[in-house]
Amino acid sequence: QSEIYKRGMFDNIVPTVTTNPNQLEAQAKEAMTSRGYNYAAGGAGERATMDANRLAFRQWKFIPRMLRPTTHRDIRTTIFGVTYDSPLLIAPIGVQTIFHEDRELGVAEIAAELGMPYIMSTAASSSIEEVAQASGDGPRWFQLYWPQEDEITLSILSRARKCNFSVLIVTLDTWALSWRPWDLDAAYVPFMKGIGDSTGFTDPAFRRIFQSNHPEHKSVDEDVHAAALDWQSHMFSGKAHTWDQLQLLRDNWKGPIVLKGIQHVDDARKAVEAGMDGIIVSNHGGRQLDGAIGSLEVLPEIVDAVGKDITVLFDSGVRTGVDVIKALCLGAKGVCIGRPWVYGLGIAGKAGAKEVLQGILADLDQSMGLAGIEDIAGCERAMLRRVAYGA
Ligand code: FNR
Repeated sequence: QSEIYKRGMFDNIVPTVTTNPNQLEAQAKEAMTSRGYNYAAGGAGERATMDANRLAFRQWKFIPRMLRPTTHRDIRTTIFGVTYDSPLLIAPIGVQTIFHEDRELGVAEIAAELGMPYIMSTAASSSIEEVAQASGDGPRWFQLYWPQEDEITLSILSRARKCNFSVLIVTLDTWALSWRPWDLDAAYVPFMKGIGDSTGFTDPAFRRIFQSNHPEHKSVDEDVHAAALDWQSHMFSGKAHTWDQLQLLRDNWKGPIVLKGIQHVDDARKAVEAGMDGIIVSNHGGRQLDGAIGSLEVLPEIVDAVGKDITVLFDSGVRTGVDVIKALCLGAKGVCIGRPWVYGLGIAGKAGAKEVLQGILADLDQSMGLAGIEDIAGCERAMLRRVAYGA
């Protein structure tokens, strides 16, 4: 944090990516292609849930404490028995080649440098193997868009295990794609871009099934368009799985399993009953069901119901370090960052994504001190009060 201040205030170096959370999206809009920007900034419907995500944060206010020993904060965080440098995780984001040629590989690299788990998306425009290589010794988790074909699911899980992805995230809220005007109006299928290196196209089970479904093509490479549509329909089949089918994943994944997209207390309880290790309270950043409740709104009740039985992580609407502290105070054990680093990536590649994440870390560290919180364990609900005057 002092580095960032020194750079700006003493060396007069203007940051490449704005440090102002209210200007980041506008800077990204200037810098990115309109399709890349629309894909990142767009939400479902009229983006009402995106708004609700922000409003939910605004309703919680700190009551800071003074003269506490908070000069040296400790933001290290332990999740599933592993201690990370901070409570931040890189949210799974698909097709990163849309945003910048640095794509998943660049972001996996900087995540490793920052000691943050890189959560790789099934919809990545890079293969599991090349992301693992870019992530090196860094922590990496794998996010599954759960195909209907078990053969593809098992092939993907086995590749991820072989490449030392330690935690499996299963996204439940995107079994079908939602109504997304930002993509629809641009007549744009994001998954077409950079598809050649994608997790699907490099998957032997997908390739085999594609060929048997399309005997007229010898391989996926011959008709990339048809194959891209096929791959998309495996990820977003339009047919939801059921709770009992989680057993297949449990039987074929040795590490922790986390369900992403939980918003209801009863679903959180079902996750515990199903033997899951964690959940991510999330509404997919307002990209799925428009009109769904703000994600932070339901965090406290879910933590009260299952916080002792299961690891509760959080995302949707986190824009600042202060937001991260609020989610931790309301009981999250870790917080996934999405759009902010996507904008950084779009503006200046992996260096831009890193700058954004370092900014959030600096804000988190400094603001914890100002609130009177010494370490992650000190993030308690009592630090906050709910105030309904909105902004
Ligand atoms: C996502 N998200 C997402 N989630 C997931 O499980 N797999 C994926 O491939 C993607 N892809 C994706 C692309 C883009 C452009 C965005 C913005 C989001 C959802 C993501 O993991 C996370 O839940 C949200 O980004 C959180 O919302 P905010 O904080 O970014 O608004």
